[in-house]
Amino acid sequence: MKSVFFTFLLLALAANLHAEPLTKTQQQQALRLFSALGCRACHDFENSGSNIAGSLDRIGLKLSKEQILQRLQLPPEEVGQGEKFMPSYQTTPADQLELLSRFLASRK
Ligand code: HEC
Repeated sequence: MKSVFFTFLLLALAANLHAEPLTKTQQQQALRLFSALGCRACHDFENSGSNIAGSLDRIGLKLSKEQILQRLQLPPEEVGQGEKFMPSYQTTPADQLELLSRFLASRK
């Protein structure tokens, strides 16, 4: 029984840590990823980028971290094939995408 409580406590702590705002360093890392992964080739962000797709300045009002992460990890065969489509980032390390998604979801 004790271990059940302990596990619960750990889970609660982990969930809490996740909800914490990003540190300055994490925000800088996320911004670097945003540039390195070429998101600005199609999206506008903080007054720089392109308008091929929508601005991501306030994407956190529309999508949660999970939804953004899910979009980035769509397999190549599931992204659109039309004139305007977003590439799959499935091969980008998951921890990088996680950080980027948290960062974008905090943009409101
Ligand atoms: C080649 C152009 C292109 C690139 C590069 C690109 N996107 Fe997109 N993105 C799109 C298009 C087009 C859509 C809308 C259609 C769709 O969802 O596929 C979109 C949709 C999105 C959405 C959902 C927006 C909404 O309002 O529902 C998010 C979030 C997003 N992109 C984030 C990113 C991030 C983060 C990167 C960089 C890692 C990125 N995109 C790179 C073209 C691009």
